[in-house]
This record gives sequence, structure tokens and C-alpha cells, in this order.
Amino acid sequence: MKKLTVPGAKGRQLIKRDKVVVSQSYTRPYDFVMDHGTGSEVWDVDGNRFLDLCAGIGVCQTGHSHPKVVEAIKQQSERFLHISSDFYSPIWAEFSERLASTAPFEEPAKVFLGNSGTEAVEAAIKLARYHTGRHQFIGFYGSFHGRTMGSLSFTARKPEYRDGFFPTMGGVTHVPFPDPYRPVLSPTSDDYGETVVKFIEEVILKNIIPPKDCAAVLIEPIQGEGGYIVPTDGFFPALRKMCDKYGILLIVDEVQSGVGRTGKWWAIEHWNTEPDIVCTAKGIASGIPLGGIIARSSVMDWPAGAHANTYGGNPIACSAGLATLELIESEMMQNAAEMGEYTLDALAEIQVRHPSIGQVRGKGLMIGIDFVKDHDSREPASDLRDRIAELAFEYGVLTLGCGNSAIRLSPPLNITKAIIDEGLEILETAISEAEAEGFD
Ligand SMILES: Cc1ncc(COP(=O)(O)O)c(C=O)c1O
Repeated sequence: MKKLTVPGAKGRQLIKRDKVVVSQSYTRPYDFVMDHGTGSEVWDVDGNRFLDLCAGIGVCQTGHSHPKVVEAIKQQSERFLHISSDFYSPIWAEFSERLASTAPFEEPAKVFLGNSGTEAVEAAIKLARYHTGRHQFIGFYGSFHGRTMGSLSFTARKPEYRDGFFPTMGGVTHVPFPDPYRPVLSPTSDDYGETVVKFIEEVILKNIIPPKDCAAVLIEPIQGEGGYIVPTDGFFPALRKMCDKYGILLIVDEVQSGVGRTGKWWAIEHWNTEPDIVCTAKGIASGIPLGGIIARSSVMDWPAGAHANTYGGNPIACSAGLATLELIESEMMQNAAEMGEYTLDALAEIQVRHPSIGQVRGKGLMIGIDFVKDHDSREPASDLRDRIAELAFEYGVLTLGCGNSAIRLSPPLNITKAIIDEGLEILETAISEAEAEGFD
């Protein structure tokens, strides 16, 4: 297997320009300089081909520049680009109807649109406060919900996300995520998720937050940036029960796990649990900035003027969103389920050959490969993980890390078996090489 020369001369030149003018607050795990892409393949400015197994962190849901999405954008852009959220437009209503029809609850749904994941989370926080008249929230360690002040108050993944930005919004209490691979609470039930819910009820609601003041629990159904961690099966049903008992809203942040990625519209559907508010963004418009919330109609009771924005319902974003939802429903959600199973099976075989792989986990095409220093202690092998991502890049595969020691796979939902096979072969080469180099 041949290594690419990356970045090439054009790439190096571009990186030099970027470093002068683009905010250094963005992290770049390796030096990929995008030129163009199609489906699950991308090319850098020096003409090198890569397999994209992360799809812009689960954003290019329908693959790079899917012709139907591009056509929808073209057609809408010839009609109008913007009219402001002060007025009505057919595409806004149509997209909202379509999105509302995917809501993972029985009750009729209403939709609020913004431009990003963090705005979706801000909207959910405000709606929960408004609807309940309460001001306290529960979030989870390891979570990532965005970087504006409200969402940042819930994000609890790395100290550098908060360093220099305190004080964040008050009223957020964090609890351990129901991670069965690395539990931190002593079990009180066979299902670790039920242990976490008991902790919330018996410790948090009895020592810190009066239940009557608790507006909502905000959680990623599968923790994304935190490590692609899948909760135990008992967790969400128990959490829903506890929320109902105290009139607490359940907000699921499906910014990374939603829109067909796990083989269902929303990851929460894997646990037959109905949330009150769903946050969405990333894959919803295949790469055009769009985010928002889907809430039960009875919960979205705020009046005119309570929350709005300039670009809400932007016609280009809605046209891309509509085309995306149609593609996901007609073919890609099913493909995500099938290719996810296929990838998990293939990774299970790879795991047998590589003791550094502690766990392979995920649903659909949201898959994490966790590297450990040793199987018993499950100590994260962070350096090994970083080196594997770097080597995979040099061999022509784009992946991204998540958590302390996992590689995440979140490819386009129309990825083919051939690309998966090619990508996993390269990934295994990278794993073998990093192990041989002595990284752990
Ligand atoms: C689960 C989740 N919520 C919220 C966000 C924030 O989204 P954005 O970067 O669009 O603001 C992210 C981004 O990675 C995310 O993964």
C-alpha cells in the first residue's frame, strides 16, 4: 500500500495562507485541503484521492454534492435567495411539514429553524425554560452540544472548550453518561443506564435541584464527540419515566446522531422512547447550514417575538433539506442500516487481529472504534488513536477521533460496500503500522 505525499505543494501553500488569516481556534487533526468531492470520495488540491469516512462530521449525509441536492439548490437560487423570516414562503412551510412528519413522538409537531447545531440547542434551552417556567437543567459529562454560551454550559467534553470563557450559563448540573464500557458509578442495577437514572433521582434531585425547578434533561442519544458511546437499553425508558414523574422535559440532541444516520430517522427511536424536543443540524441539509428543533406542539407554546432569527427558514437551506430528507427516506436510511451492520461485522473481524481495539460500538453508520492500552483496565490509548488517524490520512482515508481514544466512522449514508472494504483495508494497515511503531 502506497503512502500519499500529503499535503502536496498546493496544499502547503494554501495552509500557509490560511494560518495568516483564519482564526487559530479551529483545530485541524491533519492537513487535508479539500478541492472537490463526489459521493464518499474527495480530492485534495494536489489531486490526491481520499475515502471520506467522516463526511464532515456526519454532515454530508447524502454524499458530497449529490446531484439531487445540487439541483434543488440551483432551482431555488434562481427563484430567490432570501426574504427574511418576517414573511412566509412555501419552501419553509413544506420543509417544516416534512421534518415534522419524522418526529419521534405521536403528538403533532412544530418546527423552529436556525442555521446550526448550537442554535438548535439554544432554541431548545429557551423553549424548555419558557414552557416549564423552570430554570434548572441536567446535562452529561462527555457531551458536546455546541459553543455558544447556553450550549457551552452543557458541553462537558474538554476543559479547553470552557477555558477563558467562564462564567457559563448557570443552572446546569452534569451527571455521568450511561457508558457501559467505562462506568464510573457503582452499579445499583444490572443495567448501568438504570443506575445512572437512579443517581439522578436519588442524588441530584434530592441534593441539588428541587424537581419543581428542573426544566429539562438534555442528552445526545448516542454521545458523539464524547466517543460514539451507546447507552444501555434500559437507560432511555427509565429516564423517560423519571422525567414524567417530575414534569421534566426530555430534550434529545440529535445533531450528530439524527437524520437517518443510525438507520432510523432519530437515534432515540432505537429505544422506543418519545422525547419532547429534538435538536437537529449537521446532516439535515447535506452541508448547507441549517439546524432547528422539532417539538411537541403542546410544548412549543411561546408567543410571537419570543424567539426568531434573520435566516430562519432560509429558502436555499430548506430546498437542500427537502431534497436530503427525500433521499434519506427513499434509499439512504435503509442503506445506513445495512452498511452499518456490514461495517460492524467487518470491524469485529479486524478486532480479533488487533488487541489494541478494546471495543467496536455503534448503530447504523455511527460507529466508534475504541483503542486501549490493555483490555482489563480499558485505559484509553490516545496516542495510538491519534497516530492511526494520521496514518490513515497518509494512506488516503479521512477519519476523525472522538472521546479519549476512539476513531469515529460517520460516512455518507449512500456509501457502498466497495468503498467500505477499501477504507477498512487501509484503516487496518494504519492500525498495524501504528502498533508496530510502538504507540499506545
Ligand atoms: C451533538 C452535537 N450537538 C451540537 C453540535 C454543535 O453544532 P454546530 O457546530 O453546528 O453548532 C454538535 C457539533 O459537533 C454536535 O455534535
